Amino acid sequence: MALDAVPLGRTGLRVTELAFGTWRFGRENDAGEVEVGEQRAHDLLDAYADAGGRFIDTADMYGGGRAERYIGDWLSERDREDYVVASKMYWPTRQGPNGRGLNRKHLRESLDAVLDRLGTDYVDLLYVHRWDDDTPAAEFMRTLDGFVRDGTVHYLGASTFQPNAWKVAKANEIAKREGYEPFTVVQPRFNAVNREIAGNYLDMCRDYDIGVVPWSPLAGGFLTGKYERGEDPPDGTRGATDQQFVDSYLTSSNFDVLDAVEAVADEVGATPAQVSLAWLLHHDQVVAPITGARTPDQLRENVEAADVTLSADQFERIADAR
Ligand SMILES: NC(=O)c1ccc[n+]([C@@H]2O[C@H](COP(=O)([O-])OP(=O)(O)OC[C@H]3O[C@@H](n4cnc5c(N)ncnc54)[C@H](OP(=O)(O)O)[C@@H]3O)[C@@H](O)[C@H]2O)c1
Repeated sequence: MALDAVPLGRTGLRVTELAFGTWRFGRENDAGEVEVGEQRAHDLLDAYADAGGRFIDTADMYGGGRAERYIGDWLSERDREDYVVASKMYWPTRQGPNGRGLNRKHLRESLDAVLDRLGTDYVDLLYVHRWDDDTPAAEFMRTLDGFVRDGTVHYLGASTFQPNAWKVAKANEIAKREGYEPFTVVQPRFNAVNREIAGNYLDMCRDYDIGVVPWSPLAGGFLTGKYERGEDPPDGTRGATDQQFVDSYLTSSNFDVLDAVEAVADEVGATPAQVSLAWLLHHDQVVAPITGARTPDQLRENVEAADVTLSADQFERIADAR
């Protein structure tokens, strides 16, 4: 199957209904191993592109810049115009008081570095990775608007402001008043076990016509069903090397949700991962979950989620499972 193109919120840009995330590219896990090296990264990008995927998600801090370099090398062999590339900025890139956050000096320096690593003249979508309490929103919205005006950025997004919907609303009201480019997309954590954005935040997105691009759509792999109640995480999984993952995801209430996902998966003849992605896509505001598949086989399995349709009853049973 090939993935379809869908509108990015209210913009005219069309993106693939499943984005591909590169958080683990060049990243060392707790055991000191690089999770996804350059060759594997390129194999994954090939598998994603072969399935029709055109929406690549990265950030300046992923793998300390290695993720963007891997993507840039891969893109250099392709037509860059075929791809929608999103990056993010906020986290420290250097020592010193201005080496982090959304102040104008840091944003300008960071964007130059992003473009250099990606080997491109522009990013299609730039997210602020976090809200910055130390920089006035009017300052960073004006800086970001400047990037759009000079053509180095095409669209703006806000990442991980959940559950503080007011922050996105405040920034967009400033943009409206001043004639700046607003945030047209948000990237919160959202999956069947992490539903902080249900209610107020999603209502804000609907009201402002903002598209939602969920991160960790499979709860870091928990929703694939490979973890068992009361059992140690299997070798080679994220859970095997990440105690924080174990503490936050392998909980009794999360396993209750997984039970519901697995029951629906049996009914529709799909895998739990596919059902979990289909559950997200069932929401009107969701544009494209960002799959974090770590192997080409995982990726190919997840891509098939676009063909899975849930009934209203199946959707509700998962939503009500905790
Ligand atoms: N804005 C933000 O602050 C933020 C934060 C986090 C992530 N993100 C973005 O969201 C992307 C996705 O996040 P994520 O990696 O947490 O997503 P995820 O899809 O919830 O989890 C990915 C993990 O799930 C497992 N997995 C995926 N598909 C599988 C399958 N079919 N079968 C078995 N296991 C499967 C793999 O685990 P194993 O490694 O165990 O095989 C993989 O590493 C990131 O790459 C990044 O682009 C953004």
